[in-house]
Amino acid sequence: MKLLKKYFTWLFLMALVPHVASAQPTPNPDISNWMTSPGIIGAIVLIAIVLVIAIFILTVKASGYFSHLQKKNELGKNNDFSERLLEMDKEEIETILQKRQAALSYQLSGSELGSDLAAEDPRGMITQVTHEPNNPLVDEKKKSPVKYDTPVQLKKIITWYIGSSVFWLVFGTLVGQYLGMKFVWPEMDTISWLSFGRLRPVHTNAVFWGWASMSMIGLGLFVITRTSNNTLYSYTLARWAWWLMNGSVAIGTLLLMSGINNGGGEYREYIWPVALLFAIGMILTFYNFYQTVATRKIEEIYVTNWYLLGGLGWTIILVIIGYLPMYQDGLGETVIQGYYMHQGVGMWFMTFTLGLIYYYLPAALNKPIYSYSLGVLAFWTQMLFYTLIGTHHFVFSPLPWWLQTVAIVFSAGMLIPVVAGTTNFLMTMRGSWSEISKSYVLPFFLVGVIFYFVGSAQGSLQAFRFTNFIWHFTDFNVAHSHMTMYGIISFILWACIYAVYPKITGKEPRQIFVGMHFWMAFIGLFAYMVSLMIGGSLKGLSWIEGEPFIQSVILMQPFWLWRAIGGTLMFVSHLLFAYNFYDMSRGLEEIPKKSYPFDANSQDSDINRLRVKNENETILIHLLC
Ligand code: HEM
Ligand code: HEM
Repeated sequence: MKLLKKYFTWLFLMALVPHVASAQPTPNPDISNWMTSPGIIGAIVLIAIVLVIAIFILTVKASGYFSHLQKKNELGKNNDFSERLLEMDKEEIETILQKRQAALSYQLSGSELGSDLAAEDPRGMITQVTHEPNNPLVDEKKKSPVKYDTPVQLKKIITWYIGSSVFWLVFGTLVGQYLGMKFVWPEMDTISWLSFGRLRPVHTNAVFWGWASMSMIGLGLFVITRTSNNTLYSYTLARWAWWLMNGSVAIGTLLLMSGINNGGGEYREYIWPVALLFAIGMILTFYNFYQTVATRKIEEIYVTNWYLLGGLGWTIILVIIGYLPMYQDGLGETVIQGYYMHQGVGMWFMTFTLGLIYYYLPAALNKPIYSYSLGVLAFWTQMLFYTLIGTHHFVFSPLPWWLQTVAIVFSAGMLIPVVAGTTNFLMTMRGSWSEISKSYVLPFFLVGVIFYFVGSAQGSLQAFRFTNFIWHFTDFNVAHSHMTMYGIISFILWACIYAVYPKITGKEPRQIFVGMHFWMAFIGLFAYMVSLMIGGSLKGLSWIEGEPFIQSVILMQPFWLWRAIGGTLMFVSHLLFAYNFYDMSRGLEEIPKKSYPFDANSQDSDINRLRVKNENETILIHLLC
């Protein structure tokens, strides 16, 4: 009876608002004023932001270069002076020296700045008083502990993880580059193993699970121990997880190339036994991370660890749900596919990477994060909005209209965590802009953070019905994917690796190569995304106007060529990155064979802890350098 009542209530509600239960009720939207639609204008503004930031970085770098030239110039002047000195006769030099000696032996009376009264310091601002002004100790600057007291096992396991991620980046993007060339020369090969349909998932899965995931976990292993002031719970578990996850990507790649796959579901093309290996690896990693935090030697759980554990937990659930047999067909499969895809990018890559920023950015700048509360707000709003936006991948599909609307509204709601996070990171960077001219760590972070705002805001605009109508099924989507997975995730991972890895190994990479990596990756990505955004929009409009399909293929030709050019720059930048990683890891050879125990309580412990007052909360920030 109760059930019947519920059924009739639903029926009544549906009669009142019939469109709620149906799919697409409206005809094609009017596209005559498409250029002035908010989505298109927003996308143009967002690209302009990226350009402005690039110009900013270039200006700071250029001014650094000019001041270097200026110094060189001054040095030249000094040399000229020395030469002039050599040319002077003895008497001339003697007179100059006498004047100089008189100046040096001049003594101050001691009362030039005030009276003869004794000096007082009631506020205790002077910590060291000396009666010998020439004592070098007074001028001594506080040195930062650049060398990390990191256990050898941890160094090694981090190197394994990041090392394998570098391999998958080079391999995965070689495949991506090959695919990009196929758009320009489709007749390149006729080998089934190298066909577009097989290689595309090889590329996406290799960069997702091989590159980004391995590197994230490697960096996570370092953070989890430091922010817990603890040793890693188990190195054996970390090693097992490494083998399982890398094994899964290797076997999955071979199977995909040979034509054995899971069917349609994007990013879950590996057959289930292969995905299971990855899932077990993730479970082991979660357990290892969890135990390390649970047995931490400090009270607080730093905000990074919320993100890392959250990301791992959701992804395990996600992979399991994505492979449940009852969700493998029908409309249920479509809902789950949307959920799986967006949770994959949002709750795994984005959540975990955000956690890494909360640690590595302040650490690299040697100052605390701007606001801990903003970080917590961003965490919870991300959890709230991200979980319900999956269906924006299926706007205008047979899925219920209301479900699509919820996804669109929540996609707009994502602006809250995104703005909170971006503000927090930019405010942390404020006052440190001069760092841009000193190293490439901050430029990598800055580009990643700007893309976090630009890529996500552009995603929100893309979810609107009007813009989605134009862009869905076109190359615009591919531009968005790379803007986010490459612009945000990859740039941030590079920033973190360059920030911490040299300090673990004690070997800096050559700045010229890091610079080349940065600029080639950035310019390549810019060419990649702008060409596909313009081409994708024109393609969508051509379809709406009812032109023959082949027309859209012809119009895309120059844009695909630009994508291949951009892709080549990106790929070459990855080779440079691989070399830089190799260069940095050479420092590990100098590590003593015998490992030493890690003493978290030692005064000389690996971290320099600082308690800062931030919005009435006392938080523990670990400064690395
Ligand atoms: C040299 C650099 C890269 C090149 C040349 C490249 C090229 C490509 C190509 C040609 C496609 C197929 C597009 C299509 O089906 O129309 C693709 C798809 C994709 N790539 Fe890349 N890629 C690169 C780097 C990366 C990286 C580093 C990531 C992630 C970390 C990534 C993530 C993706 C994703 C998610 C897709 C699916 C796009 C979608 O369906 O919307 N790519 N890539
Ligand atoms: C506010 C945050 C975001 C929103 C609202 C958003 C929205 C969207 C929308 C509307 C689509 C296109 C759906 C379609 O028409 O098929 C899409 C696709 C995609 N997004 Fe996002 N996005 C956001 C952030 C991100 C982030 C942070 C990443 C990566 C870390 C990402 C990765 C992707 C990928 C890979 C696709 C392509 C999926 C496919 O293969 O079809 N997005 N996103």
